[in-house]
Amino acid sequence: MSYQVIIPAAGQGKRMRAGKNKVLLQLKDIPILIHTLRVFELDDACKGIILAISAGDEDHFSSLLKKYRIKKVTSLVAGGNERQHSVYNGLQAAKKEGIVLVHDAARPFIEKRVIHELVSVAEKDGAAVVAVPVKDTIKKVNNFEVVETIERSSLWAIQTPQAFRVSLLEEAHNLALVQNFLGTDEASLVERLHIPVKIVEGDYDNIKLTTPEDLYFAEAIIKQRDYQKRG
Ligand code: CTP
Ligand code: MG
Repeated sequence: MSYQVIIPAAGQGKRMRAGKNKVLLQLKDIPILIHTLRVFELDDACKGIILAISAGDEDHFSSLLKKYRIKKVTSLVAGGNERQHSVYNGLQAAKKEGIVLVHDAARPFIEKRVIHELVSVAEKDGAAVVAVPVKDTIKKVNNFEVVETIERSSLWAIQTPQAFRVSLLEEAHNLALVQNFLGTDEASLVERLHIPVKIVEGDYDNIKLTTPEDLYFAEAIIKQRDYQKRG
């Protein structure tokens, strides 16, 4: 099993309200981005990391990679205005064979076990995403009035990583570009090719650090994992 991974890290972190790119915030004295990169650095199946960063950040990110001895980053590419554009730019730097993963820099808690399950499904079926069953009741609302309740048993919260045969992801991105379609994840682009996307059940703690309170959850997850490690 092997794969390459595109990691979009070129956001502004507006909802985190930290005044800077949230992936540079520290968790246990280490930037969130480095926590994420380490997962892939330590996975032998990962053959290369393509990192999308904002223009002007090259020196800062390069020095972080050096400081934390991250060696698998093969390309630093410029991010775009939207996440989808950052991933598109990353895709241009990808090797044109095998499986490519896309994983948010802002999800530092992904585990190797889940990544490997995802890659093996993508190798077989071409497209797969990590997701968890939705726990809340979800209703469609218009102007603060309920329109309908969506049957919960069919709802899954979609995370990253998402994995694809590289040729398939390229085709999906090219079609989205031509059609001017902007999706919030890669699978939504692939779905437009009418290709089935498989679900791999992941973990609830693979959170995306999005708003300030997510940092409290993150501290708790780290504490719990340290505790488990100490046995
Ligand atoms: N991202 C990116 N390029 C963009 C926007 C986002 O590479 N133009 C990255 C972010 O750095 C993050 C991931 O995509 O790792 C998921 O996006 P999100 O959680 O929305 O992060 P931000 O866009 O930074 O946050 P916000 O939407 O609150 O501004
Ligand atoms: Mg965003």
